[in-house]
Amino acid sequence: MWESDAGLLARVDRDKMPRHVAIIMDGNGRWANCRGLLRSAGHTAGVKTLKNILKTAVNLKLEALTVYAFSTENWKRPPSEVDFLMHLFSDYLEREKLEMHQNNVRIKFLGRMEDFAPSLQKLMRDSVELMKNNTGVKFNVAADYGGQDEIIRAAQKLACRVKAGELLPENISAQLFEDELDTAGQPPVDLMIRTSGDLRVSNFLLWQAAYAEFWFTDTPWPEFTPEEFVDALIDFGKRTRRFGALSN
Ligand code: FPP
Repeated sequence: MWESDAGLLARVDRDKMPRHVAIIMDGNGRWANCRGLLRSAGHTAGVKTLKNILKTAVNLKLEALTVYAFSTENWKRPPSEVDFLMHLFSDYLEREKLEMHQNNVRIKFLGRMEDFAPSLQKLMRDSVELMKNNTGVKFNVAADYGGQDEIIRAAQKLACRVKAGELLPENISAQLFEDELDTAGQPPVDLMIRTSGDLRVSNFLLWQAAYAEFWFTDTPWPEFTPEEFVDALIDFGKRTRRFGALSN
């Protein structure tokens, strides 16, 4: 089992925890540039941060953690950076999958997958298969993911069912729509964290974050710590959520 910092975990009131936290892990490149390093060094450092945050999520018994690893727009980056990210992703899965499994993590991938190298696709499928019966943290890695793309894919699946005569257009409900999203069966996002100073959603979980609370920090992802993650969870616990209604 992953060791835990009992003092840190004790700071969190478990009754006020979000069920689903999503993270935009931004700032790897800027962090590296500021240090005279290559952007790739920032991504490598970002993987270490991810491991620490996943450990903390496991130890806090968070229900779902979703991270933005590669967006549908990230293909526009220089081929050398895309290539580096692909290798980093596959090394990460190869190296960490057993340890994740031993910690009862259930991994899932959100996004398209089909444009990844066949060997990476196989590794992704094998990782899902390995952890499919685990009951701990639902760890969603968004890879070749875009919120608009996910919504279009869901709409296409529903349209096919309508065309096949299985479904009437007027019977399309929010629930039926959600059942076609990559996150089907998971709770909506309660808390969205973005590191490194920018204040935007960047096409991440557009449907699922409809009522999410947001937490922004200037800290670049490679320097984001479990302590700051816990700060965000504690801050979430103090928010009043009304979901469009009036507070009591
Ligand atoms: C944003 O930083 C980060 C990414 C586009 C990739 C995130 C990837 C990782 C944290 C590591 C790989 C993940 C896995 C699951 C292995 P940026 O490059 O946009 O930084 P910048 O905004 O400073 O340029």
